[in-house]
Amino acid sequence: MRTAQVVPIEMSEGQDIGRERPGGTALVKTVFVKTYGCQMNVYDSARMTEVLAPLGYRPVSVPDGADFIIVNTCHIREKASEKVFSELGRLRRHKEARAAGGGRMFIAVTGCVAQAEGAEILRRAPYVDMVLGPQTYHRLPELVARMERAETGGAGRVATDFPVEAKFDHLPARDGGQTISAFLTVQEGCDKFCSFCVVPYTRGAEFSRPVAQVLAEAAQLVRGGAREIVLLGQNVNAYRGQGPDGAPWGLDRLISALAPIAGLTRLRYTTSHPADMDDRLIAAHRDVPMLMPYLHLPVQSGADRILRAMNRRHTGDDYRRLVRRLRAARPDIALSSDFIVGFPGESEADFEQTLALVGEIGFTQAYSFKYSPRPGTPASLMDGQVPESVKADRLARLQILLDSQQAAFNRQSVGQTMPVLVERPGRRPGQMVGRSPYLQAVRTAAPVGAIGSTIELRITASDARGLAGVPVAHASERVTA
Ligand code: SAH
Ligand code: SF4
Ligand code: F3S
Repeated sequence: MRTAQVVPIEMSEGQDIGRERPGGTALVKTVFVKTYGCQMNVYDSARMTEVLAPLGYRPVSVPDGADFIIVNTCHIREKASEKVFSELGRLRRHKEARAAGGGRMFIAVTGCVAQAEGAEILRRAPYVDMVLGPQTYHRLPELVARMERAETGGAGRVATDFPVEAKFDHLPARDGGQTISAFLTVQEGCDKFCSFCVVPYTRGAEFSRPVAQVLAEAAQLVRGGAREIVLLGQNVNAYRGQGPDGAPWGLDRLISALAPIAGLTRLRYTTSHPADMDDRLIAAHRDVPMLMPYLHLPVQSGADRILRAMNRRHTGDDYRRLVRRLRAARPDIALSSDFIVGFPGESEADFEQTLALVGEIGFTQAYSFKYSPRPGTPASLMDGQVPESVKADRLARLQILLDSQQAAFNRQSVGQTMPVLVERPGRRPGQMVGRSPYLQAVRTAAPVGAIGSTIELRITASDARGLAGVPVAHASERVTA
């Protein structure tokens, strides 16, 4: 699970890649979107396919035969960025094969690598037709139309500015939620400038969507079948969207306004910065039952010296105090976090403070990474870069501890009864998979009709794939039988 944030997710809803002429006129074209990176990229990929629908593009799940391929990229670590060029190399062959058969295929690179390295992409991969940064997706229809007319070239192929008009004001309405748990971006960008991180450069300044816009999109997602909404932002708890009263609303008020939407059963939000976790948001975890008892709250390190060099704006003790307040408000809250090992100057003693903090807090899930120097960030120029072998050793030690905490948390769920939101069919016939309030995957026997409903399950087993459970009614029937 710990690499989930950089695992490519193939976004596509349609399976049929046949070509047809509805009404005998416009040719139905197909688009394949490959998504790397965080949930915000997953959300953006969904929005891009929606923007392209009126132009006749239908999403498909494989690149073979697609008319348009979008590679939505992530720049967070070196490995994530490198993947783009190997992926483009593969796509080039698809494009050439298409051209050899007399057809055309377009390739666009979007996302955070596009923003950071747009010119470099066009230099190294001249067969790329278009480069688009994360704040310009609303311009996709115009750029695609020009690309189809073969008018693009030179500067027309790149849109990596931060336009004054917000993309959200110009994207079309959602076409409904295709998933039970739907992402909804409410905040973009970051002003924190942690010294290791590219996000403030690739996504731009912090921006919050107005409350009314978020409420309208949430209602559309629920009408389309979503039962859970995950509010997204690079710094989601820094949300300050304009409320209907004209005043800026915090995330706590936004959550309270979303909770009454009929049909919506769960709310979550991610990712939060410890410095933006205020009393009102903590109180929402106590007062809003629909807000799930799970919080992703990255700490990065347990050593104050390193946290200062990271420009994190919190100490280890600030984090401990915050966790105490959260647990006082919601005793069963499950915590997950992100960690960086081998930040410049990190000593063995510093690293041991990270292990100590993990030991004290107890995380139910975590993502941990070797520090990756990123071009243009202050940390990449700092003295004391840590050798790769030391980073690898620390990562392995940290992950052993985090994995054991996750396994222990899952084991202690066995025997408990918990509400599980059923999301999708499992691998076996008759099996469904859902999520516990604590974001654990739970398998159970249920009919397809159960998708979207919340059922009480008694947890019977825990293994590497997650939890297994039986509906409470069945469990008691068995006891009495
Ligand atoms: N906004 C979130 C993090 C977004 S990036 C926050 O403030 O916590 C997701 C995670 O990637 C970060 O939490 C960090 O652990 C990791 N990360 C970011 N830059 C990195 C780098 N240069 N090297 C290694 N990991 C990095
Ligand atoms: Fe990056 Fe820090 Fe902003 Fe998170 S808060 S996105 S780690 S700069
Ligand atoms: Fe990656 Fe950009 Fe998200 S760098 S983690 S896709 S904000």
